[in-house]
Amino acid sequence: MTWQIQRHGTVDSTMRLAEPLPVGSVVVADHQTAGIGRHGHQWDSRPNEGLYVSLVLKPHPVLTLALGLAAQKALQQVTTLRCEIRWPNDLMLGTKKLGGILVELHQDRAVAGIGINIGQRAFPSDLKPIATSLALETGLDFRRDDILEALLQHIPEQTSLTTEEVISSWEQASTWARGKQVIVDEIRGTTAGLDPRGFLLVRTETGETQTIYAGGVRAL
Ligand code: BTN
Repeated sequence: MTWQIQRHGTVDSTMRLAEPLPVGSVVVADHQTAGIGRHGHQWDSRPNEGLYVSLVLKPHPVLTLALGLAAQKALQQVTTLRCEIRWPNDLMLGTKKLGGILVELHQDRAVAGIGINIGQRAFPSDLKPIATSLALETGLDFRRDDILEALLQHIPEQTSLTTEEVISSWEQASTWARGKQVIVDEIRGTTAGLDPRGFLLVRTETGETQTIYAGGVRAL
């Protein structure tokens, strides 16, 4: 796959810049003034500390899961750390979030935003209990471009897998897939894999299996 890469200094959000661009476009910025997270949250995007990138891709039924796999592989390649992928697409180190993925569908294209905390040595007090960075975890400085390059290498490989292949790789790659005690909204139970569409299954205490379509999954 040939990528068309646009590099920017300060932008509002790479999601907005990527929106009108064709498949294969990549928009990367040093700083976002209005970084968008999932569920209407802001994505903390201070200058030069994180990787802030949006990619325009062909839609795939389980694109968010495939991108989680690509990000896990890219990070492992560059840093040797194996981050966890929490359904549907949080990148975690221990109990803290290292990165996140946001997919927006626009008819025949998908815009996928990936944010990875790299150089932050501190977070604002509201994020401190829930966020981490590669610098905080390792004491090392990683280059944003090395992580971007590894991502651009792994994304075509993971997004060309079939839905079944992505689901089965994801189930193997995530310790959140099975046997994890979780709470999602009001539902408490143990994760029981993904269904054939990529939704998370949770077995409750009453022995019922609930399908989780959206929502924040937390460890109990
Ligand atoms: C999440 O909430 O976990 C998803 C975060 C996605 C953040 C990235 S940073 C690059 C791209 N531009 C944005 O405004 N958001 C995504």
